[in-house]
Amino acid sequence: MLGTMVSLAVCLALYARMTTALPTISAVGSKFFTSDGNQFFIKGIAYQLVANDPLIDTKQCQLDATLMKELGANAIRVYHVDPLADHTGCMQVFADAGIYLFVDMDSFQTYIKLDVIAWNQNKSDSFKQVMDEFQKYDNTAGFFVGNEVLNGLSDSPAAPYLLAAAADLKAYRDAKGYRPIPIGYSATDSAPLGSLLQDYLACRSNVSERLDFFSLNSYEWCGSQTSYATSGYMALQHSFEDYPAPIFFSETGCNTVPPRDFSDQTAIFGANMSGTWSGAIIYEWIQEMNHYGLISYGPFASNALQQGTTVIDGYPRQGTPTPVTPDFSNLKAQWATISPTGVALSAYSGTSVTPRPCPPSTAGGWAVDASLPLPTIGQVETPAASSAASAPSPTGPRPAGTAPSSSAADAVGSGSATSTTASGSAAQFEHNVLVFNEGSVAGCLVALLTIGLAVLVLL
Ligand SMILES: *[C@@H]1O[C@H](CO)[C@@H](O)[C@H](O)[C@H]1NC(C)=O
Ligand SMILES: *[C@@H]1O[C@H](CO)[C@@H](O)[C@H](O)[C@H]1NC(C)=O
Ligand SMILES: *[C@@H]1O[C@H](CO)[C@@H](O)[C@H](O)[C@H]1NC(C)=O
Repeated sequence: MLGTMVSLAVCLALYARMTTALPTISAVGSKFFTSDGNQFFIKGIAYQLVANDPLIDTKQCQLDATLMKELGANAIRVYHVDPLADHTGCMQVFADAGIYLFVDMDSFQTYIKLDVIAWNQNKSDSFKQVMDEFQKYDNTAGFFVGNEVLNGLSDSPAAPYLLAAAADLKAYRDAKGYRPIPIGYSATDSAPLGSLLQDYLACRSNVSERLDFFSLNSYEWCGSQTSYATSGYMALQHSFEDYPAPIFFSETGCNTVPPRDFSDQTAIFGANMSGTWSGAIIYEWIQEMNHYGLISYGPFASNALQQGTTVIDGYPRQGTPTPVTPDFSNLKAQWATISPTGVALSAYSGTSVTPRPCPPSTAGGWAVDASLPLPTIGQVETPAASSAASAPSPTGPRPAGTAPSSSAADAVGSGSATSTTASGSAAQFEHNVLVFNEGSVAGCLVALLTIGLAVLVLL
């Protein structure tokens, strides 16, 4: 009996250790904070190994989370998930590695697109499904309502629909009693749009109709000869100073001037920018056709090779991750020198932020009247008002010379469903944590059964 009690105590302690949760993240004023009162800065990685959902293969998540921890990452961004799948295993291994999730709520079927600009019940319901699923996990740090929907001034009629989506999902989150997981948007770094979109999305006096965060996919800093002043970051800093919500780079890591040395990280986390910005997400984890990968799962075969979800466009999609040289070690070295502390929540007045001025509506320019109410569910914009030609194409290739984005990750096809060739290296991996967890669960069951029997005997 004593032995059983001891093993029960041990197994409860193990269980407590296994489920130790990370502090949750929320947005206060212009910054992110952890629930234990520290400012949170993102060192993130874009993670989309396969088109539909990279968060359902626990063994793969474990392999990647372990190496991401070594890299110094504390967050991932995932562009597409299946809200009906089980994400418990992946979310736990990322949590155990100290890694948070920023997840896009839109799917290939439901993203707000420029040919028929709308916010409708179907989109709303499907975004809500993603929120319902991922709010369960303490390490979910944020939700996106869209990625690179607007690319130029003629796309401005879509802006109210993005804001309507954010307001709808914020209201739903609060009505359901979910914790205030921040809801934001991931924008194209577009010179013609300048600061118009970011200002519009944070200009209303009613905070229920403002984003909780704004983020930018920016590839302005290319190569080691670039500097704060020559990269365009100085101009970005100027444009975002005193923004009333957290902002960060939701994609960065230009690769047009190799090798990538990620020297922009010292600027983002340095004295000029870290009072305004909350960090960066590096594009991207897996090596694929666009050559932005930090790791690969094996040698490239040929573009034509497709094996289900195992090999897409000739690039293996699973297995033991091997660092891409020198990108991985360069990023690791940069992040190792960076440990911003920012400001403590107790010393910060989040109420001191002020909304941006709403950009005026101009014919042929920013054609949005911010004094109008937001679109209601089911409202559709007249197609003539927007330029479908410049719509981002989540399934198509990026135009040459432009930065990658989710479209690159999105481009992975589903291939044939008949793949049988599992990666050999994955099979060899000793997933110690999983073995350990299964072992301790079994131990708990034995202990509980023994106690149950003892109680029966006593009765
Ligand atoms: C939205 O519509 C698509 C296709 O029209 C459908 O597959 C999907 O199930 C719908 N989603 C919801 C949540 O109703
Ligand atoms: C603020 O916006 C929300 C969402 O659109 C709306 O329901 C609410 O009535 C607004 N509050 C005020 C005071 O206008
Ligand atoms: C901060 O800005 C100054 C110019 O205003 C620049 O010389 C310096 O390199 C910047 N620091 C970093 C870390 O980018």
